[in-house]
Amino acid sequence: MSLIAPDPTCFIKRRKQLLAWMRSLGGGIAVIATAPERARNRDNHYSYRHDSDFYYLTGFNQPNAWLILIAADEDQSVLFCEPRHPEMEIWNGLRWGPEDAAKHFAFDAAHSIDKINEIMPSLLTGYGRLMTTMSRPSDDSLFTRLREWVKQAAASTRGARACPHDWLDISDVLAEMRLIKDAGELEIMRKAASISAKGHVRAMQTARPGCHEYELEAELLHVFRKHGAQSVAYDSIVAAGPNACILHHRAGHDVMHDGDLVLIDAGCELDGYASDITRTFPANGKFSGPQRALYDIVLAAQQAAIAHTSTTHHFNAAHEAAIRVITQGLLDEGLIAGTLDEAIETAAFQPFYMHRTGHWLGMDVHDVGSYRTPPLSSQDRPWRMLSAGMVLTIEPGLYVSPAANIDERYWNIGIRIEDDAIVTSSGCELITRGVPVDADEIEALMRHA
Ligand code: GLY
Ligand code: MN
Ligand code: MN
Repeated sequence: MSLIAPDPTCFIKRRKQLLAWMRSLGGGIAVIATAPERARNRDNHYSYRHDSDFYYLTGFNQPNAWLILIAADEDQSVLFCEPRHPEMEIWNGLRWGPEDAAKHFAFDAAHSIDKINEIMPSLLTGYGRLMTTMSRPSDDSLFTRLREWVKQAAASTRGARACPHDWLDISDVLAEMRLIKDAGELEIMRKAASISAKGHVRAMQTARPGCHEYELEAELLHVFRKHGAQSVAYDSIVAAGPNACILHHRAGHDVMHDGDLVLIDAGCELDGYASDITRTFPANGKFSGPQRALYDIVLAAQQAAIAHTSTTHHFNAAHEAAIRVITQGLLDEGLIAGTLDEAIETAAFQPFYMHRTGHWLGMDVHDVGSYRTPPLSSQDRPWRMLSAGMVLTIEPGLYVSPAANIDERYWNIGIRIEDDAIVTSSGCELITRGVPVDADEIEALMRHA
C-alpha cells in the first residue's frame, strides 16, 4: 500500500504565477482551503472531492488541508494537512502527513492541521494584505476562521507589526489562470472525454424498448470506472421520452418505450477534470420522421456553432450561430411563424431552446472564467474573444413539450447534442467524437449492437 504523488512541476509553476501576481500588488499572504468532507448520514460521508482552486495549486487531494502562500522578501508556500495516524489510517486509508507532503508536493514547509489555530495568527502577522477565494470559498467557515486568526494576530502584536487589514479576492485571478488549460490538463481532458464517449457508445448499444433509465446509467458508470475515472463529473442525466424535455432529469426508474427518444447527458471526472457529453437516440434504434427532422436541425446548429468556435470569434458567436439555424429550422417545421430576423429578434425560439449553447469546461463541469472581457464580467462588457487552450462545450438543443398550438407529431421530442471542444490556433478540436453524432451513424451503431 502506498500513496502516489502527481508530478509537482505544474503545481509549482502555478503557485509561482500566483505569487508573482501577489507581488505585483505589493505582496501579502494568501490562504486557500480545500473542501470539507460532507456527511451523508451518521458515520457515512459522501465520497470526497477536493476544492478545485486548492487542487489546481497543490495537486493535493486529501481533506483537511490548507495552502498558505506568502509573497514577501522570499516567496513561501506552506501546507497544513492531516498528520499521520496509524489507527485512523486503518479505517480511512493512508495519509500523506506533513513531512512527506512537503517532500512530494514541493512545499517549503508543512504542518499538522492540528496546529493551524496555533500557527496561523503568527503566520498572518507582518502582512497588511490577506488574499483568499472570497467569491468562491471552499467552505463557509473559511471567513469565520480567518477573522478569528486575524483578530488574534492583531491582539498579540498590539499595533507593533502589520496585520491583515486589507482583504482581497483572488477568485478572479485564479479563474483566469484556470481558463487557459496547459498541455497536461488538455491531455487529461482528452482522456476523460474519450472514456465518456465509450460510456455513451455502450449505453446506446444496450438501449432497447423496455429498458429503464437506471440500466443505462449503470452502463455509463461501468465504463467510467472500468477505464479508471474516479467519478462522474455530475449525476448522469438519462431521460426517456417526455423526460428529455426536463433539461436536468436525473436517471430514474422510467422505462423507454418503442418510439421514444432517449437523451443521455453524462460525463466522467478523471484526475480532477470533467467531461460533458450529450447524445440523443431512438430507443428502438430508428428515428421517426419528426424526430429525425428536429435532430438534423440540432446537429446543423451544432455544426454552425463549431464553425464559430475559434480564436477569431468571441464566446457568444457560437450561440448566435446556433440560434440562427435553430430558428430557421423551427420556421421550416412550422413550429413558429414570421421571418427569420423577426423570430430571432423576438427570441421566438426560446420556448423550444431555453439554454445557452456552451460553457467553460475544466475541473468544474461549469468551469470558472468570465464570459465577458475581463476584468469584470458585467453585462455591458463585450463578450471575450476565444483563445487557444480554452475548453468549452457546444450543446444546442430543442425541446417540444405538449401544447395545444403545437403539432402533436412533435410532442415530447427533447434533443440535445453536446461535445467538448479545445480552442486551437486554427479552430477547435472536438475531443468527444468517440461516440457518433450523425443520425445514420447512431442508427448503424445501434443496429450492430
Ligand atoms: N451536464 C450539464 C451541462 O451540460 O451543462
Ligand atoms: Mn454542458
Ligand atoms: Mn451536459
